[in-house]
Amino acid sequence: MAHVCLLGLGYIGLPTAAMLSMHGHRVTGVDVRPGIVEDLKQGKVHIKEPDLTAVVRDALRTGNLTLSHTPVAADVFLTCVQTPHDDEHADLSYLRKATESILPVLKSGDLVIVESTVPPGTTANVVRTLLETSGLRAPQDFQLAYCPERVMPGRVLREIVENARVTPASSAASIPHPRNGRRNCIPRSSVGRSSQRTARPRSS
Ligand SMILES: NC(=O)c1ccc[n+]([C@@H]2O[C@H](COP(=O)([O-])OP(=O)(O)OC[C@H]3O[C@@H](n4cnc5c(N)ncnc54)[C@H](O)[C@@H]3O)[C@@H](O)[C@H]2O)c1
Repeated sequence: MAHVCLLGLGYIGLPTAAMLSMHGHRVTGVDVRPGIVEDLKQGKVHIKEPDLTAVVRDALRTGNLTLSHTPVAADVFLTCVQTPHDDEHADLSYLRKATESILPVLKSGDLVIVESTVPPGTTANVVRTLLETSGLRAPQDFQLAYCPERVMPGRVLREIVENARVTPASSAASIPHPRNGRRNCIPRSSVGRSSQRTARPRSS
């Protein structure tokens, strides 16, 4: 199982971190907003979503989910920070900061997945450019994929597992995600692929 460092413990990131942990992955959840990490460590969940509090508390109890204010070295980085937008523009400042915060711990062989919703070209032109200031190159040194979340409020825990996804990625060996079956969730399939250093999803 992989070590996942997930940035942004909000409406998308927290359920994702908890579900990955409950599926056996080691997850370090990171958030910069004051109080969130401390509250979560005490089992206080700030996101209202059916069953989420129980799942987060279970994930913390297993020891698979730990929490931090700063990114740690990992196999996979998932960025789930907010990208507020209107009809014409998306504010990518949070994504930029989160991406920059990975730089000190990014290493050869890692996989970075952008889970935030962003305009076309952002992963290749913004995230990749920032990550490559580390001196590492995609896809030779690290893999980069875009996997926007599409869950519906009220069904988040279920849809994280069941929704089919498309995962464009930086490697020629990585292909668009086919209908991947109801038992396979993208965090699991992406993480599973990390051992092969590719974002290509596993079929179910
Ligand atoms: N909420 C939804 O229903 C939904 C559905 C589909 C897609 N999305 C997309 O998912 C992404 C995340 O949305 P959300 O609703 O979870 O946002 P959110 O505001 O609930 O959570 C974002 C979290 O990221 C944290 N954060 C900001 N900068 C950070 C950094 N540098 N390092 C670590 N943490 C940082 C914030 O403190 C916050 O807790 C957005 O792009 C959104 O468009 C959201």
